[in-house]
Amino acid sequence: MSSVMETLLSRQSVKFVQSPGPSDAQLDLILQAAMRAPDHGAVHPWRFALAQGADVPALVDVAVRIAQAEGKPLPEHKVANARKWLARVPLVILLACRPDPNGRIRVEESRLSVAAAVMNMLNAAHALGLHGFWSTGMGTYLDGMGEALGFDPLDEHFMGYLAIGTPIDAPHPAQRPDHRAFVRAWRMDQAAV
Ligand SMILES: Cc1cc2nc3c(=O)[nH]c(=O)nc-3n(C[C@H](O)[C@H](O)[C@H](O)COP(=O)(O)O)c2cc1C
Repeated sequence: MSSVMETLLSRQSVKFVQSPGPSDAQLDLILQAAMRAPDHGAVHPWRFALAQGADVPALVDVAVRIAQAEGKPLPEHKVANARKWLARVPLVILLACRPDPNGRIRVEESRLSVAAAVMNMLNAAHALGLHGFWSTGMGTYLDGMGEALGFDPLDEHFMGYLAIGTPIDAPHPAQRPDHRAFVRAWRMDQAAV
């Protein structure tokens, strides 16, 4: 099996990571991998912001404040979990989508392209010996969260967080489902038309 296939088949998310995060050169590679996501209509919908060092745990404070301001305070246990998660994370990539301003390409397709970019970043991080974790917790779906993080409230949709670093505890190999349970053949003579 090629080393590329081995990398793809061994990727797994790791939530609790610490330094070292990616070096500047590694981060460039990870972000270049994001630019290889399929992108219908060449919309280039990917918008990212990088939080590093002390700005990472500060993300929780932003979520707490926005949730409070919107009258939907985050439950204490969720805040505690978020603080525990981000305490040692060296890098969080804030993920957003700017859909086609001309409306030719469906918004959903631009969001799918951002998701594909995130997948590429997870795989790139793994190929570089790092681990990542994609989260839509911590206020992702609050109305004002994207703007609070510096995304344009008019046309940039905040989509969550991608943490990258080095596992604090050695990860156990993940159990994966048998792909055959999710796949079937399709033949024209069975079409329901
Ligand atoms: C869009 C998206 C959002 C996610 N948000 C969360 C989250 O908020 N909290 C969480 O525990 N896992 C979340 N996950 C799942 C983890 O990122 C991860 O995929 C999961 O723990 C399984 O690990 P694996 O990637 O090794 O299969 C999310 C996954 C996706 C695709």
